[in-house]
Amino acid sequence: MNILKFLIFNLLIIFQCAIEACSIELENNTDEEIVIDGLKYNYVIRKFKVPINHFSFVDDRKFEIRYLVNNTWQKEINAPIFFHLGNEGKIEIFAKISGFLWDIAPIFGALIIFAEHRYYGESLPFGNKTFSSVKNLEYLNTQQALLDYVNLIEFLRTDNKLKHSPVIVFGGSYAGQLAAWMRLKYPHIVQGAIAASAPILQFSNITDCHLFTRIVTSDFRNTNPICSKAIRQSWDAITNLTSTASGKRWLFIMWNLCKPLRSKSDVQKLKDWLSNIYITLAMANYPYPIDFPAPLPAFSIKHFCKHFTKNDLPHEKLLMILKKGIDVYANFTGQNPCIDIESGIPELGTIGWDYQTCTELVMPICSDGINDMFEPQSWNLKEIAEYCKKNYKVVPNDQIICKQYGCTDFETATNIVFSNGLMDPWSAGGVLKDLTRSAIAVVIPNAAHGLDLRGANSADPHGVIRARDIHRNLIKKWINDYDELVNQKYESN
Ligand SMILES: *[C@@H]1O[C@H](CO)[C@@H](O)[C@H](O)[C@H]1NC(C)=O
Ligand SMILES: *[C@@H]1O[C@H](CO)[C@@H](O)[C@H](O)[C@H]1NC(C)=O
Ligand SMILES: *[C@@H]1O[C@H](CO)[C@@H](O)[C@H](O)[C@H]1NC(C)=O
Ligand SMILES: *[C@@H]1O[C@H](CO)[C@@H](O)[C@H](O)[C@H]1NC(C)=O
Ligand SMILES: *[C@@H]1O[C@H](CO)[C@@H](O)[C@H](O)[C@H]1NC(C)=O
Ligand SMILES: *[C@@H]1O[C@H](CO)[C@@H](O)[C@H](O)[C@H]1NC(C)=O
Repeated sequence: MNILKFLIFNLLIIFQCAIEACSIELENNTDEEIVIDGLKYNYVIRKFKVPINHFSFVDDRKFEIRYLVNNTWQKEINAPIFFHLGNEGKIEIFAKISGFLWDIAPIFGALIIFAEHRYYGESLPFGNKTFSSVKNLEYLNTQQALLDYVNLIEFLRTDNKLKHSPVIVFGGSYAGQLAAWMRLKYPHIVQGAIAASAPILQFSNITDCHLFTRIVTSDFRNTNPICSKAIRQSWDAITNLTSTASGKRWLFIMWNLCKPLRSKSDVQKLKDWLSNIYITLAMANYPYPIDFPAPLPAFSIKHFCKHFTKNDLPHEKLLMILKKGIDVYANFTGQNPCIDIESGIPELGTIGWDYQTCTELVMPICSDGINDMFEPQSWNLKEIAEYCKKNYKVVPNDQIICKQYGCTDFETATNIVFSNGLMDPWSAGGVLKDLTRSAIAVVIPNAAHGLDLRGANSADPHGVIRARDIHRNLIKKWINDYDELVNQKYESN
């Protein structure tokens, strides 16, 4: 199994804390005054008809995508539309973790829209048959999705009160990529984009595939150098130990695995699961607890690493300590009877995302085991192509995104903020330097994945507060510029 195939879970999965889950008492928690980001946001759910294939002149089939609406703060005339693009999952989840948008909508008198992405949640073109044949996946791509949003925005603007509303698109992670691409492609439809943790440069020949795993490693190393070193040593420890039947059995029992390790491929699955945890912790290393993909404490890497105090332990001992770290992810609540290395995340569209990474979204990630703590894994497009052919009868095109949206020549880009937390491994493929005067980069030293799009929290680092100020000021400017334009254009008549 290639690294790419387990990363897919991880592009955007960080969920907000349900109030109950966040009340877990941490040992020696000194951060008493931290407010948990557990607000419930309200909205009505609507449906909107879109063509299954926007690019066909013969196929007139349609289906419905869902969108969430909150008009509580919408001002009377030409209210700004804050339009959050869908990620690769149920839209409700992303409404919950995008507190920034909810925090600022009242200031702007904005209408809030969260639009679900086609093929995810309940926006399925072929209903419950959507994933039953690979042929039905054919209309799952970014261009189709962006046109769904164009149609929905045009529809919203048919309301007389919204006829000249400025539209600001928001998104984090995959939706951040979409937000940037939407402004690049449809500047006449959207007036500006907040693209948080959007790896629009994580593509072949643009970004070194090693960077991603090096950032994960430095998050662990900066927390505790013994910890990253132990993780690097653990791969050999696992290989060595599981080379015998008794060693496989030992690990199965000591780690409370749900199923015994029977083969080399089971051992590989276990290793992939572990890599996935390290990546998830790096993405979700937030200054306050969260609830998804697992209940995690604030600064989860610190909790993971605190058990590592000695260098160069014997294999068994090393793996026992590693298990204690893993429990921060796999058994934080103490309620998990056994470790299931095959469990997925039900709210996310696993098949849809896997298909997208097999077609357009080919984002190279690799490791060398020297400058990072992972097992060496080269980037092998041929291997991935075989996997994609076998599973979906498709051939990945690792050049298509740069052709469609650009990866190097952004001189015409305007009104986009690219924000990236430097602890987030996806910042490897993020825009860290201004592209133009109004397509700018905001770098946040102490932040993980998409922290700035989440709601304000008393534990937020200074850089995140600053990033949100920049977002707010630019949104204001984009709205004013647009209002001025509209006034010039229509009031002179
Ligand atoms: C909590 O802190 C006290 C004093 O700093 C220390 O003695 C104790 O070992 C800590 N407990 C845990 C579980 O870390
Ligand atoms: C909009 O959200 C606010 C905050 O959650 C809530 O009080 C209000 O009832 C919501 N309005 C609608 C129409 O759902
Ligand atoms: C799929 O949907 C159809 C129509 O809504 C329904 O009759 C059928 O039982 C569903 N099949 C499954 C397997 O859920
Ligand atoms: C792009 O990268 C691949 C390896 O990832 C390499 O084989 C190829 O030559 C590169 N192409 C260009 C145009 O640099
Ligand atoms: C694997 O473990 C055995 C003892 O169980 C030891 O003799 C051998 O050297 C180890 N191999 C490696 C590569 O660590
Ligand atoms: C999770 O923690 C509980 C309580 O400490 C323990 O009984 C259980 O075995 C743990 N589960 C795993 C998978 O280690």
